[in-house]
Amino acid sequence: MEFPLLLSIQRQALDRIQQEFAIGPDNVQTIIRGMHRSMEQGLAKPGQTLAMLPSFIVNGADGIEKGKCLALDLGGTNFRVCQINLKGVPGEYRMVQKKYLIPQTLKTAPATELFGFIADGIHDFLRENGENDAEEHTFGSSTKGKNVRTISLGFTFSFPVRQKALNHGELTQWNKGFTCSGAVGHNVPDLLQRALQARNINAEVTALLNDTVGALTACSYRYPGTLLGVILGTGSNVAYMEKISRIPKFLEEQPHLLNTPAAEQDMGINMEWGSFDNEGDVVPSNQYDQLLDDNSPNQKNQMFEKRISGLYLGELFRLVILDLIRRQLLFSGKVTTALETPYLLDSSLVSAIVDDSTPKAQGLHPKVRVKLITQLELDENNVSDADLSLARGVACAIATRSARLAGTGLSAVLLRRQDRLAVATPDDPITIGIDGSLYEHFTTFREVMIQTLTSVIGEENFAKLRIVLAKDGSGVGAAVAATMNSELPTL
Ligand code: BGC
Repeated sequence: MEFPLLLSIQRQALDRIQQEFAIGPDNVQTIIRGMHRSMEQGLAKPGQTLAMLPSFIVNGADGIEKGKCLALDLGGTNFRVCQINLKGVPGEYRMVQKKYLIPQTLKTAPATELFGFIADGIHDFLRENGENDAEEHTFGSSTKGKNVRTISLGFTFSFPVRQKALNHGELTQWNKGFTCSGAVGHNVPDLLQRALQARNINAEVTALLNDTVGALTACSYRYPGTLLGVILGTGSNVAYMEKISRIPKFLEEQPHLLNTPAAEQDMGINMEWGSFDNEGDVVPSNQYDQLLDDNSPNQKNQMFEKRISGLYLGELFRLVILDLIRRQLLFSGKVTTALETPYLLDSSLVSAIVDDSTPKAQGLHPKVRVKLITQLELDENNVSDADLSLARGVACAIATRSARLAGTGLSAVLLRRQDRLAVATPDDPITIGIDGSLYEHFTTFREVMIQTLTSVIGEENFAKLRIVLAKDGSGVGAAVAATMNSELPTL
């Protein structure tokens, strides 16, 4: 990519950065082979790099699920309480919701405090909303005729959980900056249920699901047969439907299913793809990835996520910019306090720079320039147009890698379900639900990811996909799962 304003020494530095963040066609193929290998290993045995966690959601929703329940969505930055009324008509629901910010301190406090805070939020929500309904919605643009009488609560919990039933799952590890003690190894619904009981809140946690499984389930409420649920936001992960007969570790625990028609059904698998290639064998790594990992609370973990998701894009940008300043190649060599503060920058700065359509020969749009200067706390006098151009080149290199990796990973998952691709048609497509800020708000990211996916699976296969924004997927998915709980096909 050409950046005409750069000084020659800056151009050389950018060339090197572009090489360090490049994902070429060979890498794409190696990554796909590596992901297929890891998927097989994770489906075969517990404790593998790709956890491949059975979700206990069988065949997804069928669009006629019906009833009113609570949904709780605990992601990264916020938690959301929703009251959802599923209409029993594909995609139709009514919802009232409220978002609560999770104080930074609670992310590292004992789990009882975190869950206590969440239960307080639910209490507050119920006081404000009681039994009222709200706005009409149609999901994406499908539910069984059963009314939920007691307050049944579906809990979308965006962390890796080893599930033993739809309403029982033990946390295997925290991510995204959470380290609360007393949660790993514990049944997450119990932790919440205790906090609810202590506050006399009359709700029962009937389903626990990952946000990717939430997106998958919510989409299947609108489009039965949805194949993938994807999150590209603060964190990144994918859930997909896998034939039970191809999940040896699940069959080992449920031997009565072996060689039965039930084993030909599909079950949602939370891949926990953020951990892909933790060993560093397949995805190219550079000095900035190393630095980011060295300073993270979960070293050598979530290595794929650390190259893709929103939480890390701003941090990688900060690390590269800091390095360039220290090498006297940027901003007159002046380091600022902001630039020395880990995780101060989020992906919105990177996306604003990368999505800026100002011609490269003219630096950055004045608004983006101000955003960059303000967030980096730079002195205007130290910022030249050439510097802005270099910063833009850096942001593009980081974002392009992230989008190419996401597109490559999605291709690998789709190719694993060749059987579904073979029978899909443009009129009867495979549905993929995607949620998260990177996909929703970062145009260039979305475009590069789609280009990568198309180039791997081919135009013809791409035409057989229906990619929908799974907004509200975590809430609606949790509600659908809570409603489905009593109706799960008998295994
Ligand atoms: C978590 C996943 C989650 C993803 C997206 C990752 O850090 O491990 O469970 O699905 O973030 O929120």
